[in-house]
Amino acid sequence: MDMPVPVTEKVFWIGVNDRETHLFEGLWPLPHGVSYNSYLIKDEKVVLIDTVKFTLTGPYLEKLRKLAGGKIDYLVVNHMEPDHSGSILALRDLYPDMQIVGNKRTEKMLFDFYGIVDGIKVVNEGEELDIGTRKLIFHLTPMVHWPETMMTYDTKDRILFSGDAFGGFRTLDGGIFDDELDISTYRDEIARYYANIVAKFSPMVQSALKKLAGLDIRVVCSTHGPVWRKDPSYIIKFYDELSSMGTENGVVIVYGSMYGNTKKMADHLARKLSEGGIEKVIVHDASKTHLSYLIRDIWRYTGIAIGTPTYNTGIYPPIDALVHFMQNSRISNHVIGVFGSCGWGGGGVKAVEEYARSSSCKVVDPVVEVHGEAKEEDLKRLDELAENMVMELKELSCK
Ligand code: FEO
Repeated sequence: MDMPVPVTEKVFWIGVNDRETHLFEGLWPLPHGVSYNSYLIKDEKVVLIDTVKFTLTGPYLEKLRKLAGGKIDYLVVNHMEPDHSGSILALRDLYPDMQIVGNKRTEKMLFDFYGIVDGIKVVNEGEELDIGTRKLIFHLTPMVHWPETMMTYDTKDRILFSGDAFGGFRTLDGGIFDDELDISTYRDEIARYYANIVAKFSPMVQSALKKLAGLDIRVVCSTHGPVWRKDPSYIIKFYDELSSMGTENGVVIVYGSMYGNTKKMADHLARKLSEGGIEKVIVHDASKTHLSYLIRDIWRYTGIAIGTPTYNTGIYPPIDALVHFMQNSRISNHVIGVFGSCGWGGGGVKAVEEYARSSSCKVVDPVVEVHGEAKEEDLKRLDELAENMVMELKELSCK
């Protein structure tokens, strides 16, 4: 979109769509792109909330200049990651008197990233900034998604400028508001964004949600994805579910397979889970499906089954990457099954089992490892694993 969009009479969305970047943070595929949202408040003081990635500074400034004219009093930096702070230096050139508003940690990062040492107004938790007919109140929400992250609340329009929180992948194509978009097409990309970018810090997301619980929030303006004005509780509830981990009843089976033996075990297990009444059984081949989609589904569903062949006496590399990410993200609140095949010595299944038993998840027995192709007895053990997983999931869903 090449024009600002009014959110309220005095508040404008001036974000940009990024359809050029292949990998967000150099890691996460963007098949549907991503938006970087920035907002301008034209009260007695003119206030900009966050900026955009440096690669899109040109079109961003073009839009901003038309709207702001020659004056910006404050730039509020809710988050310093360069997808939001990347246009700060260009803005300082255009508006040399503009004050940058951030907290103590923002101040350090402004120097670390851009060498900025002056023109900074440092704010603390709950501090207010009077900008005319409204005040802006700053709430520090560390680790959602970096240590300096904060949110800004507009007391007049009751807008929460939330930074990364409540954001997601996918560009804003024409519509920017939840009531202008088919939100069902955003849900998976919001979950993938959350699971891969923010999820490790879920306890901090839960703390932030508790801190915000008392606010009267009419509009949620995140730095990525839709502006939530029709039903802000939708995205707040979805983030609450995501940050609680594994809340949806279902099983994600992720396997790697060189010659089809572990794949056959995955398909057998999937069938038995389905026969056991599990409606959501999702099977992924880790060699073909990007890690970000595996993590997205693992984050949402209660059951996980990991199947690996043995490779160089250890875990098959795509499964190894998955296990490493799960370990780093501190995946908990799930039930895990482990299975796989080896040609001769084994080692892959044992290593995945060791990870699973050392995690905060519940390991469902039996762990099933076979040599070569699964035989009748092996399939019976897989049946037992499926039955036990079904039982665990039913017990959890009754709680
Ligand atoms: Fe969208 Fe943490 O940056």
